Amino acid sequence: MTRIPYETSGEPNPLQALTLDRLRRRTSMKWRTHPADVLPLWVAEMDVPLAEPVVRAVTEAMELGDTGYPVGTAYAEALAAFARKRWDWDGLAVERTAIVPDVMLGVVEMLRLVTGHGDPVVVNPPVYPPFYDFVRHLGREVAEAPLDAGGRIGLDVLESTFRRVTAGGRRAAYLLCSPHNPTGTVHTADELTAVAALAERYGVRVVADEIHAPLVVGDTRFVPYLSVPGGERGLSLMSASKAWNLAGLKAALAVAGPDAAGDLARMPEEVGHGPSHVGILAHTAALRDGTPWLDALLAGLDANRGLLAGLLAERLPAVRYRPGEATYLAWLDCRSLGLGDDPAEVFLEHGRVALNAGPPFGTGGAGHARLNLAASPEVIGEAVRRMAVAVERAGHRP
Ligand SMILES: Cc1ncc(COP(=O)(O)O)c(C=O)c1O
Repeated sequence: MTRIPYETSGEPNPLQALTLDRLRRRTSMKWRTHPADVLPLWVAEMDVPLAEPVVRAVTEAMELGDTGYPVGTAYAEALAAFARKRWDWDGLAVERTAIVPDVMLGVVEMLRLVTGHGDPVVVNPPVYPPFYDFVRHLGREVAEAPLDAGGRIGLDVLESTFRRVTAGGRRAAYLLCSPHNPTGTVHTADELTAVAALAERYGVRVVADEIHAPLVVGDTRFVPYLSVPGGERGLSLMSASKAWNLAGLKAALAVAGPDAAGDLARMPEEVGHGPSHVGILAHTAALRDGTPWLDALLAGLDANRGLLAGLLAERLPAVRYRPGEATYLAWLDCRSLGLGDDPAEVFLEHGRVALNAGPPFGTGGAGHARLNLAASPEVIGEAVRRMAVAVERAGHRP
């Protein structure tokens, strides 16, 4: 596989480019949900300036008044080229893609295509909370197949869950999070091949949320679900939004394996009217020309993982943190702190630092908190300091 080493990108670390004062001028969810004395390390927004090719693409569109409706397949072509170069995968066929407004709405639409009202959707908790809310709002039932103690997909648990939910010939889907939010687990080719075999055996349709795919560390290899043997009937959702911080510029892609093309073709036309033309321009520029920026980001995130591990060992040794191989999220096992099911609440109340609460991530979430590592080293240091203060104030031993 061709991998561009981080060091050659020549870009400065984007996580060190912005001051806290400047970040606090932002008006997005991360910065405006809590009062100004709270340090926010929760929702998956990054404290970075945008990659220059993205700024250029959007600025040019503004200058031209190029703010009409989207047309064409440039986004899909850019993703296919990125997939070829980055993941050594040339199976992403542009004609088997469709634009969708964002990844979660894309997930909902894919599940609507392959399941009916009341059908079960299997998820691997602890997992991104909207997997529960969006699936239930769609009128599907969530069935849990928890990750194992190492944060990996437990194939025995997955099989028994598939067996149970498909009993009596029921239709079912599996919503795979790959890489996994919040643990940062990168599923291996062997694991995904085994998943595909189980899905085939039980007739379960796989919808893979691969939004974190570009955010994989160092030598670890991201394996697209559609690339594994048996993945042909799968559907995937991809986007530049997490890796280049473009959540506010709505645009994602649904990608079908060769045997799921007919399903994707049934997606109603109005879904493709959701993404924004400017969003598509931004996402396309990121995938096409944003690799040096991404590599600098990945190097910065790697450093932050090590920094966080060191700071926790020093200030909060009871917190267990296993650095993941992907995403910019750190899943913290705070059970030994004795702060109850929701340590994030204690950190917020007593330390004025906002992490994500663990319980909404489903089974395995209690006693945990999720910390967003896409911040400067100074902010991460201050966050751990505040967490330690919170533990002391709450009357517990760090
Ligand atoms: C696994 C996962 N899927 C989807 C999303 C949201 O993506 P979008 O804003 O494109 O719906 C996130 C955001 O953090 C995520 O972590």
